[in-house]
Amino acid sequence: MAILKILQYPDERLHKVAVKVNAVTDSTRKLVKDMAETMYAAPGVGLAATQVDVHQRIIVVDTSETNNNLLVFINPEIISMSGESDCEEGCLSVPGIYDKVRRAERITVKAQNAKGEAFTLEAAGLLAVCIQHEMDHLLGKVFVEYLSQLKQTRIRAKLKKRLRETM
Ligand code: NI
Repeated sequence: MAILKILQYPDERLHKVAVKVNAVTDSTRKLVKDMAETMYAAPGVGLAATQVDVHQRIIVVDTSETNNNLLVFINPEIISMSGESDCEEGCLSVPGIYDKVRRAERITVKAQNAKGEAFTLEAAGLLAVCIQHEMDHLLGKVFVEYLSQLKQTRIRAKLKKRLRETM
């Protein structure tokens, strides 16, 4: 296993749109393992392949407090959603920035697991928010893009400054 490098906003590669995984293979499973290890090491509750510069429709999520409930979604699709929730979000690609985003409160998602088997999951609360956040990454969307232009400009300036300071 390996810890992968997480792209940092405003890296343009975070805006690439991921493609469907046609076949779940050993290399898919290796990527999933590396993504999980990277997420747990960060630590974070979710990671999309886009964030490690692999533009395939794969996300991993673990919102358990004990870090032992890894969920793998390959080719995830939201088939129903309801309600609204405003939850404070953060992102491993946008360190130190947290803000509220409005999303569906409950979703039903259809995907394949690491064995390539199809499954359907109903999620609510933090898990539902996290899945929606990670699925946005697959479309090239970062959560800060839901915020006002003014906030986005400030965030970009702050992160660029921080990047310069650490170089
Ligand atoms: Ni994120």
